[in-house]
Amino acid sequence: MCESPVYASRLALFTIISLCSFVFSLYYWQSFYEYSHEIIKPDDNGLRASVQNGPHTNQPNILLIITDDQGYNDIGYNSFYGIQTPVIDKLANEGLILDNYYVQPICTPTRGQLYSGVHEIHTGLYTVIRPGHRVGLPLNFPTIAGKLKEAGYSTHLVGKWHLGYYTKRHLPTRRGFDSFFGLLNGHSNHFNYTVAQSYDLHEGENNADMAKYKGRYSTHLFAEKAINIINNHHGKNPLFLVVSFTAPHEPLQVPEKYKLMYENLLINTTPEKQTYAGMISCVDEAVGNITEAFKRKGFWNNTVMIYTSDNGATGRMPNSNYPLRGHKGNVFEGGIKVPSFVHSNLMKTNVKGTISKELLHVTDWFPTLAGLGQANINDIKQLYGYDMRDTIFEGKKSPRTEIVHVINPERVQEGEPAYNNTFDSRIKSALRQGDWKLLTNPSEKHEDTLFLFNIKDDPREKHDLSQVHPHIVKKMLDRLEHHRRTAVPPLNYVRDERCRPALHNNFWVPWL
Ligand SMILES: *[C@@H]1O[C@H](CO)[C@@H](O)[C@H](O)[C@H]1NC(C)=O
Ligand SMILES: *[C@@H]1O[C@H](CO)[C@@H](O)[C@H](O)[C@H]1NC(C)=O
Ligand SMILES: *[C@@H]1O[C@H](CO)[C@@H](O)[C@H](O)[C@H]1NC(C)=O
Ligand SMILES: *[C@@H]1O[C@H](CO)[C@@H](O)[C@H](O)[C@H]1NC(C)=O
Repeated sequence: MCESPVYASRLALFTIISLCSFVFSLYYWQSFYEYSHEIIKPDDNGLRASVQNGPHTNQPNILLIITDDQGYNDIGYNSFYGIQTPVIDKLANEGLILDNYYVQPICTPTRGQLYSGVHEIHTGLYTVIRPGHRVGLPLNFPTIAGKLKEAGYSTHLVGKWHLGYYTKRHLPTRRGFDSFFGLLNGHSNHFNYTVAQSYDLHEGENNADMAKYKGRYSTHLFAEKAINIINNHHGKNPLFLVVSFTAPHEPLQVPEKYKLMYENLLINTTPEKQTYAGMISCVDEAVGNITEAFKRKGFWNNTVMIYTSDNGATGRMPNSNYPLRGHKGNVFEGGIKVPSFVHSNLMKTNVKGTISKELLHVTDWFPTLAGLGQANINDIKQLYGYDMRDTIFEGKKSPRTEIVHVINPERVQEGEPAYNNTFDSRIKSALRQGDWKLLTNPSEKHEDTLFLFNIKDDPREKHDLSQVHPHIVKKMLDRLEHHRRTAVPPLNYVRDERCRPALHNNFWVPWL
């Protein structure tokens, strides 16, 4: 990738821009001023349930599209290497692109926070659920689907769940969704729906009829199921539809025609890269078909569509988080800053067609969607999200100044902590405050103890300023320590042999 002329020119441009902003903004002083005067609020426990006004409309339909492992650069409107997503680009360009928006570095934690609004340090859902793990989003955390259902919505999930299924009570149909079609684990073969040789495709709480679905490509199948839901919806009550694609997650598979689209389109092309790009183009087509179905039914002008990836690209496949550092699984920007936008006719005209640099976090969807749907979430004790309706629909400033990206008490490196009497910098963590970001043990390797970056001036995380600003490091470590004290231990991710599909008709199903 480094040889490409586009890359080189963007790099040069970026360097010039960085230099200019360095010289002209006097950022050391300015950032320090902001830091010490505005951002730190030691009495603030970081939990919020702010009330905003948002679009003044009666319970819009909500379409939430989630993609799997789609990196920052793996979408037409950001892509330098040739990904084509004309439908998505049009929607994004008519709506609001969220360009200072963060998820978790891996799948289950992102989805847990998206559905519950609660940070993983309070649910204990710190890592990925693997097949047969006796763990799930704890039942005492309500989901946004349940909240919207209580408020009168018809609620549906098509595609991937990945928040546990060891008992029936953990299934999406018991966690607020009226209907579910899809898989319970984190990924599956895109044509035969197997994970470790056993099937993972469910219709409601039943095993799907594999004779009917085997051979259908996942993105086609999920789009078709979503469209059936829209077509069968009568519009008396509002619709909450989550379409959670398993593309472009591995395995690299797509019907030939989507791969062929890219024969001559990509920079430094390879067959794998063409397949990967084809997977994303197929998602693009699916998004087109789904939004068309909304339009045909006359629902679209009262629908809020949200698009988000669940974490950064892996860095293993021919994908890209360019120009960001890092990838899925780590707390550098490439792992946690992903494509996202909102499309809605309910947005103010001056917001439509713009790019937002306001700070947003995946937990913010919970109170934002609850606000849109007039759902009551007063019982949520540890809400970490903010209601972002005013930011998204009215273009107001984000109420959020801080994100605890990760505090993972399980990932601790050897050696000495960098500072005494504060947060132990050997623990893997990342904290964002304003433009500052502190990372401790980000690579889970001995040599990388601690970094401080100014993300606004240095979005690629090239210039560690921790030696320049030890006082900021110390304050941010103190803040991390404050949050760490509220953290619960990780749930017990233990594999239970009773899960074995051989005992359950060769399907992954609840076993307790
Ligand atoms: C599913 O497809 C994969 C290859 O794509 C194959 O290895 C596996 O045997 C298939 N499983 C079933 C049950 O068809
Ligand atoms: C979109 O709809 C067209 C027309 O029905 C169909 O041929 C195509 O396969 C659909 N694409 C996806 C991704 O579902
Ligand atoms: C949405 O479309 C319907 C049917 O075309 C129309 O009756 C309604 O007034 C429209 N609502 C808005 C907010 O534009
Ligand atoms: C932390 O305390 C230990 C023990 O008193 C001391 O050896 C070490 O140098 C201190 N480290 C720092 C960074 O101050």
